[in-house]
Amino acid sequence: MKILIKNIKSLVQVEENPRLKVSGTEMKSLSCIDDAWLAIEDDKIVGFGKMADWEGISDWSNLTILDASDKLVMPCYCDSHTHIVYAGSREAEFVDRINGLSYEQIFERGGGILNSAKKLQETSEEDLIERAMIRLNEIMRQGTGAVEIKSGYGLSVEAELKMLRVIKKLKELSPLTIKSTFLGAHAVPASLKNDKRKYIDSIIHEMMPAIAAEQLADYCDVFCEQNYFTKEETVEILTTAKKYGMIPKVHAEQLSNFGGVLAGVEVGAISVDHLEYVGDKEIEALKNSVTMPTILPGAAFFLGLPLPPARKMIDAGLPVAVASDYNPGSSPSGNMNFMLSLCCVQYKMTPEEAINASTINSAYAMNLSETHGSIAIGKKANVFITKEVPSYAFIPYSFGNNLVETVIINGKVIQ
Ligand code: NIG
Ligand code: FE
Repeated sequence: MKILIKNIKSLVQVEENPRLKVSGTEMKSLSCIDDAWLAIEDDKIVGFGKMADWEGISDWSNLTILDASDKLVMPCYCDSHTHIVYAGSREAEFVDRINGLSYEQIFERGGGILNSAKKLQETSEEDLIERAMIRLNEIMRQGTGAVEIKSGYGLSVEAELKMLRVIKKLKELSPLTIKSTFLGAHAVPASLKNDKRKYIDSIIHEMMPAIAAEQLADYCDVFCEQNYFTKEETVEILTTAKKYGMIPKVHAEQLSNFGGVLAGVEVGAISVDHLEYVGDKEIEALKNSVTMPTILPGAAFFLGLPLPPARKMIDAGLPVAVASDYNPGSSPSGNMNFMLSLCCVQYKMTPEEAINASTINSAYAMNLSETHGSIAIGKKANVFITKEVPSYAFIPYSFGNNLVETVIINGKVIQ
């Protein structure tokens, strides 16, 4: 199968010399080719250039030609942080928050993550797969081509394994590129409320060996936060995870400044995510680290949290990635187009910075930047064609609208 897209108004995020991530002032630039063509063969990008230099078609066999006059072609978004496998929904808690309760108060009453854990434990693998596939198809049509999915609504050996097996099945069923993350340390289950040590021991001695034996997780994550897991516990859990071949990630500094970023840098985490309460100390620690600071603007927006200092981090020379955090409690949307709008409107990131954050940098946050996150020869043919738009800045500008018209995943047009 071959696809040729021609007359492209602008081919966005093109790389002649692919990079793994972009940092600081580099994030302000986005390489584009106006009046371009793009060639795809099987599941790979095999060529691109200006229409003026196009040599025409020599082999018409198995070729689909798409005309993208007045339209943009972009690499699909990479969504490096989601909790897309979940049971039920939590709009009752949303209403509770409107009426004055905080996210923490809802958790203390047994709601929040514990509410989702209860629902998940009562739901079959088949139902979880069906619901998650609907969400995956929805984000794919909104332009996402790769996604990370966490466990963490199981909170028992059996239910965490069930979640991770569901994610493994999704990897087989969905054309999206999927990475899986073990997040047993998302909260202490209600039954062990007064014996957190016992739960951590279960994570380390029961869950991790079983997960490693079935190769169920690429990453291990911890919610480092007051009433959840301390910095020391985070380091302990992630250090053990590394021994089982899982790469660390951290939910860090979301509700307070609690040591998550420092823990992440210490263990060599691939990303630290949320970052609402990041200060100068954390910014210094992130310099010269391998760790990708990742903002989740959907969660900060939905919970009304202070905004992570994205501008300050970029101005300090750091890279920044953006992800959706799609989950039933703090971000019930995986629409990366809307995340781009939030980046620009609320965080004063330029459209170029927002696009870099949602493509190449978010690909880095799931070790995918060699194959995803930009238009480059040999990379996966995960791209989308927009509707007719005047420029790429029009995408974050048109908040709430979906301007993605045609999505190509692994070199196939999604119908
Ligand atoms: O990324 N902060 C912790 N975990 C999720 C929320 C999970 C939930 O409320 O269900 C987050 O925001
Ligand atoms: Fe999260």
